[in-house]
Amino acid sequence: MKPRILVTGGTGYIGSHTVVELQQAGYPVVIIDNLSNSNREVIDGIERITGIRPDFVEADCTDMAAVKELFDKYPGIKGIINFAASKAVGESMHKPVLYYRNNLNTLMNLLDIMGERDVKGIVFSSSCTVYGEPDVNPVTEASPIKKATSPYGNTKQISEEIITDVINAGAPFKSVILRYFNPVGAHPSAEIGELPNGVPQNLIPFLTQTAMGIRKELSVFGDDYNTPDGSCIRDYIDVVDLAKAHVIAVERMLTDKSEEKIEIFNLGTGNGLSVLQLINEFETATGVKVPHKIVGRRAGDIEKVWANPEHANNVLGWTAATPIADTMRSAWAWQCKLRERGIM
Ligand code: NAD
Ligand code: WQD
Repeated sequence: MKPRILVTGGTGYIGSHTVVELQQAGYPVVIIDNLSNSNREVIDGIERITGIRPDFVEADCTDMAAVKELFDKYPGIKGIINFAASKAVGESMHKPVLYYRNNLNTLMNLLDIMGERDVKGIVFSSSCTVYGEPDVNPVTEASPIKKATSPYGNTKQISEEIITDVINAGAPFKSVILRYFNPVGAHPSAEIGELPNGVPQNLIPFLTQTAMGIRKELSVFGDDYNTPDGSCIRDYIDVVDLAKAHVIAVERMLTDKSEEKIEIFNLGTGNGLSVLQLINEFETATGVKVPHKIVGRRAGDIEKVWANPEHANNVLGWTAATPIADTMRSAWAWQCKLRERGIM
């Protein structure tokens, strides 16, 4: 029997896909989520895919009493994956305290309990946002960390520093910090996927909602960037590929495959795609048109960023294997499922 893993934010977008992969790899999972950006039906989706219903505690990670209660109720937790965080960049500009409190107090509570309860490692969800606008692409893990342009981004930089300080101070556990690029798509079963709140700020949910006719047209934010077609370039990574990297990271921490107490990995495909290229990929893969128009630049956007994923490829033996066409089809199938269920 593999050891129990605590997944914070496990009913969220990336968390739910990771719970599926963990369960399919034989790990018993307990989820803690306060449902601030997800709902409990996600657990039904996970069960439909895996045949296993993960344990679920509805609680806030910033509530240490609730976290302790969870550890009392579910003994033998050996690893934590910490997805729980507030993640809307724009909102963080208006509500910085909410972001610092939620993201940092969550992490610090987890680091405290790990020492008390003999947890061997924590996987932390970081972001390519720590690189800001890179001087050189693709970015490696050694690329400079730029000053954060939002409180959200700053919570990721500070969290990485907190983890590093705590482990360097002799904490008896390990950490794998994963810097995600742009996670997109959904589980191929269309049982789970991304559930944006209100008008989506991110490209793919806005695009699929436009393709569905929920939004009139997609605004492409700028075609005057220094890129081949003028629109911004990102590294879009399939969420299931991303989820699989977490299982490898957990295994690595728990089986002492590495001497290192802290490891950092970029998780991306290594391929940059522009906004216009992505629209084209979606239309070709699904046969569905996406009405769109070019508008002005969005304040604060990075012009281009994509990953050098060689460290993860070589050390974790992991690659982002899913072709972008499949990812676009899964994103569309999920949008269609939401319509079928009358959700959107
Ligand atoms: P998400 O909002 O779908 O999932 C986060 C989950 O955490 C939600 O279910 C929410 O209800 C829960 N949560 C938030 N605060 C909590 C708290 N205090 N206690 C308990 N539960 C709490 O987000 P996601 O896209 O799945 O992102 C997961 C992680 O990955 C986040 O840390 C995010 O910052 C990071 N990340 C996401 C992206 C992205 O583009 N989606 C990119 C880089 C990094
Ligand atoms: C992608 C591209 C937009 C919407 C954000 C966070 C980052 C990380 C990932 C967590 C950009 C363009 C978008 C639209 C558009 N998250 N776009 N029309 O900005 O790369 O990154 O999510 O850590 O921290 O900042 O993602 O999906 O918002 O945008 O043209 O309606 O799509 O300009 O070039 P972004 P995104």
